[in-house]
Amino acid sequence: MTTVLPEKPRVLVLYYSFSGQTIGLLHRLTDGLRFRGAEVVMERLRPSDSRRFPVGTYVATMRMMVTTCFRPRVAIEELSPATHGHFDLVILAGPTWSYNPSGPVLSFLDRDGETMLAQRKVLPIISCRGYWRWHWFGLRKMLRACHAEIVNLMVFTHPQPEPWRTLGVFLKIAGKAPERSPFLKRWYSRFGHGRDQQEEAWRFGLDLGQALKRGEDLAELDFRTPTAMP
Ligand SMILES: Cc1cc2nc3c(=O)[nH]c(=O)nc-3n(C[C@H](O)[C@H](O)[C@H](O)COP(=O)(O)O)c2cc1C
Repeated sequence: MTTVLPEKPRVLVLYYSFSGQTIGLLHRLTDGLRFRGAEVVMERLRPSDSRRFPVGTYVATMRMMVTTCFRPRVAIEELSPATHGHFDLVILAGPTWSYNPSGPVLSFLDRDGETMLAQRKVLPIISCRGYWRWHWFGLRKMLRACHAEIVNLMVFTHPQPEPWRTLGVFLKIAGKAPERSPFLKRWYSRFGHGRDQQEEAWRFGLDLGQALKRGEDLAELDFRTPTAMP
């Protein structure tokens, strides 16, 4: 039996991004995919409530950090019709929230996981400050329960040293700008992922696009980054 290789591989990217980090990486990754000739459909998981980044106060930030430990679901709108049809790969991307997948991703998996992901090739992408393993174990369990075929994993962690990256994330969510503070900017010059990680995402997109076109095994691709080694 001969395998028919896709002339123009179709990739569906389902994502949630609260503070812009995941989407920043996805822009570059999908540029790489498109450069290799893939057709990319982007679908944001849209919370039904009106949550906004930043949350604005220390108290609200602390509340969000604590409540997300319990994996609360964040209800999402229906997916758009663009997500229907054939895809050679589904990317499911989003941040870590208190060692778990974010609330909108959890809602998506509960409601649409089986319908959208069963028997499909799925590539999870995690954007986080630095602690992603627990998130990964939980996500993998949920994806397996949906009968998804997990083909690989990409993880991007914030490159700043501790304790500044933890402090930086907390302050940013609260609506402060630590990268502009005369005291903090020496250790924390930028929130989130660096430009070199965005270039990595572009390179990963190129590799992924090429492998899809050639019908290669996506598990063979090496997405390990200097800041995260899945
Ligand atoms: C409520 C909340 C909890 C978080 N918990 C974690 C965590 O447990 N581990 C971690 O590495 N990062 C954690 N982060 C940081 C985010 O995962 C990180 O900033 C990520 O890059 C944000 O991606 P986004 O901008 O696409 O939402 C948390 C962020 C928020 C808002």
